[in-house]
Amino acid sequence: MAQFDTKIYIVDKSVDNVDIYAHLQEAARWIQEGEVVAFPTETVYGLGADATHSEAVRKIYAAKGRPSDNPLIVHIAQLDQLQDVAYAVPDKARKLMEAFWPGPITFILPAKAGLAPEVTAGLETVGVRMPDHPIARALIEAANTPIAAPSANRSGRPSPTTAQHVWEDLQGRIPLILDGGETGVGVESTVLDVTLDPPVILRPGGVSQEELQAMIGEVRLDPGLQDQSQPARAPGMKYRHYAPHAPLYLIEGKGDEAVEKMRAAIMEQVNTGKRVGVLTVDEESSLLADLPVTCLVRCGSRNHLEEVAHQLFHGLRQFDAVSVDIILSRTFPRQGIGLAIMNRLHKAAGGRYYQHKNQ
Ligand code: TXA
Ligand code: MG
Repeated sequence: MAQFDTKIYIVDKSVDNVDIYAHLQEAARWIQEGEVVAFPTETVYGLGADATHSEAVRKIYAAKGRPSDNPLIVHIAQLDQLQDVAYAVPDKARKLMEAFWPGPITFILPAKAGLAPEVTAGLETVGVRMPDHPIARALIEAANTPIAAPSANRSGRPSPTTAQHVWEDLQGRIPLILDGGETGVGVESTVLDVTLDPPVILRPGGVSQEELQAMIGEVRLDPGLQDQSQPARAPGMKYRHYAPHAPLYLIEGKGDEAVEKMRAAIMEQVNTGKRVGVLTVDEESSLLADLPVTCLVRCGSRNHLEEVAHQLFHGLRQFDAVSVDIILSRTFPRQGIGLAIMNRLHKAAGGRYYQHKNQ
């Protein structure tokens, strides 16, 4: 793989004296020359390449260390680009596109020939999304091609919500990062398979099941997702994803009971000499403040799950800056964007729930 002296260009309108136009032109040039560039979207940072160019798309997989059987999302800037990448768009999908695009939802549709086969990883379908971020859209327009882009993290790591996160994972492996500041939503797009009727959510994300159902009626959840509501028995490490370096365990329970379980788990670990990290919410951090926790990360208010989603991946990455042996995290209601939060936390934990020794 080529080595690069990775540059970071600020493309944030709120920062003075930056030539966003020139930076976008340079980024578009890299894409047209078959290289990959990291850029902000409203969900997480993406790692983009020309979706019609096989060699360029292969560089995405190489930079991320991503298994080649995991397909990429194609990003478009205008609705009329949809016909270049997919066909047979059902009415329900049209209706959802009108309502939620540009925005955090990806539609799985039959793929058009013309895309690099590496984008779809050999499948006959393709995921398409129109992001709601001015820089992402301007980059697609300037490059004048649909852009294939997974999240801009090394495979298995938490998705990046700042340019700094991308730098931590990919410096030296890509030529350029466009820095548009923190992303808004904080978790990735909802992936909705609209080749099925009723449509099926393959990955919960920025648009909730409830919002989709309000528009088109029944929307199902992939059965593989529902299993996650149960404490898993012995899930293998192969399911670990979005993961900080130290092992993460979930602690479920309602209100005071959950705080008590968390306190007991912390002490049990501290007493065996472990350095403990804790992921919690603003309201509960003071209830843990008297314990010898090495790193306590708050990810917003438990009454504002949008805020938790926004801070989740940054929170998970914070544990890597200190050395902890184990991370304990509270769980969240699986409603609205809470379903996406729990999906990511469950994967980060490899499905593990904390088991108290004296139980
Ligand atoms: O918010 C997002 O979606 C971000 C930003 C950059 O747009 N992108 C993102 O891409 O999260 P990635 O590659 O990290 O996740 C794409 C997900 C994967 O779970 C992949 O398996 C699924 O979408 N996917 C892509 N194409 C698919 C297809 N044809 N059929 C089924 N699943 C597909
Ligand atoms: Mg990803």
